[in-house]
Amino acid sequence: MIEFINLTEENMTRFMPDLIKLEHEIFGPELGWAEENFRLDLPRKAELSFICLLDGEPVGFRMGSAYFLDGVEIGHAHHIGVTPKHRGKGLGLVINQHTVDLCYQAGLTQLTCETDNRFPAAEFHVKGGFRKMTEQELLRYLEARGRAHRLAAYRDGRATAWIQFI
Ligand SMILES: CC(C)(COP(=O)(O)OP(=O)(O)OC[C@H]1O[C@@H](n2cnc3c(N)ncnc32)[C@H](O)[C@@H]1OP(=O)(O)O)[C@@H](O)C(=O)NCCC(=O)NCCS
Repeated sequence: MIEFINLTEENMTRFMPDLIKLEHEIFGPELGWAEENFRLDLPRKAELSFICLLDGEPVGFRMGSAYFLDGVEIGHAHHIGVTPKHRGKGLGLVINQHTVDLCYQAGLTQLTCETDNRFPAAEFHVKGGFRKMTEQELLRYLEARGRAHRLAAYRDGRATAWIQFI
């Protein structure tokens, strides 16, 4: 049985050891998030972030939050991961769909995410309903998220920004 547990502050504390363990297994101890990254206070974080349990075992998670672009509130998926042992069984897409459902419930009509070329997953995001942002969308997105200084990384393929309309 698959369960999703929203990462309210209380659940974040309860599952922090599992989140750190998953993070290290998925992204490696050097690139993975530390506890303070998980705990950053961001808009709608508790609503859009969750850990995924498979028969009671933590197997993946998605961290999300929201931001405003020209007065429109947009969901942002920071981080998705499935532990290596459980990959390739469709869990990633189930986790992605849960994020889309949570955005829908929150009244958000757009969802964005990014990939870093060390963890590309382009095909996965396209299967999950995302498309690569156009140049115009990218510029507005980077501005709204205070990341305009990183434009070169997107232009030379070190990072890719994705969007889907819900
Ligand atoms: C990306 C990730 C979450 C996918 O999880 P998963 O449970 O293996 O994904 P699914 O089984 O639901 O895969 C669905 C489809 O996406 C594709 N896919 C999965 N992982 C992929 C990857 N790393 N790159 C490209 N495509 C991928 C597969 O083609 C699969 O389609 P198929 O079933 O037709 O073959 C998982 O591989 C992972 O945790 N990777 C490391 C972290 C990462 O890269 N996160 C994304 C950037 S933040």
